[in-house]
Amino acid sequence: MVTVSAPGTIAESLREALAWYPSGVAVVTTADVDGVWWGFTASSFCSLSADPPLVLVCLAQTAQCHPAFMAAEHWAVLGLGHDQAELARTFASHVRTKFEPWPFELSPSGNPVLREAGLVLECRSERTHDGGDHSILIGRVESVRHRQRPPAIYFRRAFHRLHATQDQFPLTVRADD
Ligand SMILES: Cc1cc2nc3c(=O)[nH]c(=O)nc-3n(C[C@H](O)[C@H](O)[C@H](O)COP(=O)(O)O)c2cc1C
Repeated sequence: MVTVSAPGTIAESLREALAWYPSGVAVVTTADVDGVWWGFTASSFCSLSADPPLVLVCLAQTAQCHPAFMAAEHWAVLGLGHDQAELARTFASHVRTKFEPWPFELSPSGNPVLREAGLVLECRSERTHDGGDHSILIGRVESVRHRQRPPAIYFRRAFHRLHATQDQFPLTVRADD
């Protein structure tokens, strides 16, 4: 069955339709000039450019951490594994103690990072753009750390895992002829 459009506003239809579009899950972090750590869960993270190496993430202008990211000279993207849904929930909440339960450490570049994340990209803030009720943060990637571990998938407002077990990683990817 194909549902073309739900009743209600475009914004409601879009929200409902996009719930059916799967994404990876990242936590984006930074530290401000006073040494306070900030972070939020993001599904809007994506790659932007290979040369120069740019990535982007969109941040709601109403987020408590918005001023810190607008002022930040650098920030980090942590791609979460399938067993890190609790961490994603914490960083999607508004508590001021998001970092406390988790083994974060400050990287040499000054970003709070999580050693066990599948992907750690450390970025220099390249520029920001207005994006409606969000700001688009563009970062130039300065370091890449990557571990082959099953990713968290966000789909229909819940966290999922790929249908592969840990011992099947790295997944065998078959190119279609
Ligand atoms: C799976 C998931 C993905 C999210 N993606 C984004 C995102 O890309 N951008 C955003 O601004 N908020 C996103 N949010 C909401 C923020 O993580 C949440 O509002 C966060 O608490 C904002 O930080 P604050 O405590 O500084 O306000 C997402 C939440 C979840 C659960």
